[in-house]
Amino acid sequence: MKDQAEQLRHIVARLKQRNRDRGNARIITITSGKGGVGKTSLTTNLGISLAQMGYRVIIIDGDFGLANIDLMLGMASRYGLREMILGQMDVNEVILEGPSGIKFISGGSGIRELINLGSHQMDVFLEKIDKLNDMADIVLIDTGAGASDNVVKMALAAHEIVLVVTPEPTAITDAYALTKIITSIRQDVDLRLIINRVQSMTEAEDILDKFTKTVYRFLGITVEALGSVNDDIHVPKSIREQIPYIVSYPNCRASRQVGYIAKKLTEQNNEVRRDNQGLVSYFRRLLDFFNFKDRQEDIL
Ligand SMILES: Nc1ncnc2c1ncn2[C@@H]1O[C@H](COP(=O)(O)OP(=O)(O)OP(=O)(O)O)[C@@H](O)[C@H]1O
Ligand SMILES: [Mg+2]
Repeated sequence: MKDQAEQLRHIVARLKQRNRDRGNARIITITSGKGGVGKTSLTTNLGISLAQMGYRVIIIDGDFGLANIDLMLGMASRYGLREMILGQMDVNEVILEGPSGIKFISGGSGIRELINLGSHQMDVFLEKIDKLNDMADIVLIDTGAGASDNVVKMALAAHEIVLVVTPEPTAITDAYALTKIITSIRQDVDLRLIINRVQSMTEAEDILDKFTKTVYRFLGITVEALGSVNDDIHVPKSIREQIPYIVSYPNCRASRQVGYIAKKLTEQNNEVRRDNQGLVSYFRRLLDFFNFKDRQEDIL
């Protein structure tokens, strides 16, 4: 294990050196305590909105179950991260292109394979990830829901986490529980909140106020607001039609609100941790979480 860790550190140091002047992609994980709150549809539409603003966006489906982003985009993905990890395919073979040039890679379940890689395979895989990093300004990772070990690791490996909640009391308490777990491991996390499926601005502000105050009071963490999205009939409609609403209904309420969130997200760019950004760093932290639990302090 120690040998593998050592080699991994060398590989990452080399790739980081190479990336220093090129700029790194911003890695943002989208997660939630409760399932079904709208992560996948938000990730998809937010990604397209950012692409429309001129950013190069890659969406990674990091759900260990089913993220269904490909279905929402009306595309079928047969291959993904798994094939890349196993060394069977290159980046260009697994990447799909969606509206406004966003790129998409499926593959949450493939992440399990990372655990078994030898150091040479890891080297090959991280080289591919480095190529991917070069193709993006922003990488959005749609994780599964819940406070399961894997979701927490995938969320924590990124320096920016977007938490999605709905006004349902269970969604809020589950989001709080997830925040508690995340902040018990890392205090310096960048946590932002999207309130989805609200009926009014007052409702959104009320939830935001209560959530941020509770988190600050009991966990000592500041959660920043990213915005809210109304309950909008165009959302399920666009899922049935397999065309993201930001494309087919650009003027509907949800589209305008997602546009606002995209703008806010780019205004909140976190320069401070630039050195820790990028997909290679993300995967390095993820690998460390999976493999070298005893060295966590060292990674964070
Ligand atoms: N703003 C909204 N207005 C109306 N319906 C919505 C909205 N956001 C999401 N939904 C509905 O909620 C359902 C779940 O959405 P989605 O699949 O994006 O959630 P998820 O959090 O990714 O779920 P999972 O945890 O299973 O991955 C969809 O059927 C979608 O139509
Ligand atoms: Mg989902």
